[in-house]
Amino acid sequence: MERLDKVISATGKKSRREVKELVRQGRIYVDGKAASSADMKVDPDQSEILLDGVSIGYEKFTYIMLHKPAGVLSAVEDKRQKTVLDLLPEELQRRGLSPVGRLDKDTEGLLILTNDGELTHRLLSPKHHVDKVYYARVEGCLEKTDCHAFAQGMTLGDGLECMPAGLEILSPHEALVTLQEGKYHQVKRMLAARGKPVIYLKRLSMGTLRLDESLHPGEFRVLTREEIESLRG
Ligand code: URA
Repeated sequence: MERLDKVISATGKKSRREVKELVRQGRIYVDGKAASSADMKVDPDQSEILLDGVSIGYEKFTYIMLHKPAGVLSAVEDKRQKTVLDLLPEELQRRGLSPVGRLDKDTEGLLILTNDGELTHRLLSPKHHVDKVYYARVEGCLEKTDCHAFAQGMTLGDGLECMPAGLEILSPHEALVTLQEGKYHQVKRMLAARGKPVIYLKRLSMGTLRLDESLHPGEFRVLTREEIESLRG
């Protein structure tokens, strides 16, 4: 059982303070009766909760696909710099969403935001072997030997041990990199260790979810039920 104001504010439609006022005005009904108080206990999965006669549309979790632009931090908040949460409308900002893994400030591409901790863990834990695919543009010329090094699992000069990874060369300066883990600056560090520093990086997919190319950098959409089920595996 959860507090009524918590359940309604989780939909992002009304803040807790607004719920209090709506209850006072008699505009919220729970299972056919006017709500008695904002802190009354309801079962969000069972109770019928209506605002002005319309279901509040409670969903336990929210899943967003963001085309992260360069120049924003993969963080929930920051005192000085713009974060990915700042790209969402206020209604979604109130839902306790976090990015599923971080992209560097200058990296673009697919970023999932959710408040479903179980799915976040499934997508990030190397144990689950979820592929993350990146498009990278580099300085220097990529060679077959780089692919072999990636496939074998590299240990970098600073001691970072990397699991076997995919490197598919698209042109001398472009490649697709596939990782099943996400250590700090990992793609950049692996390619730099091969003498091919990254000059542009974009994440294209995470598990079964591909970046929707109709989204411009900075745009987002809610995941479909099928996409969510498929990510859960
Ligand atoms: N690897 C990187 O180096 N940067 C990212 O943003 C993601 C993966």
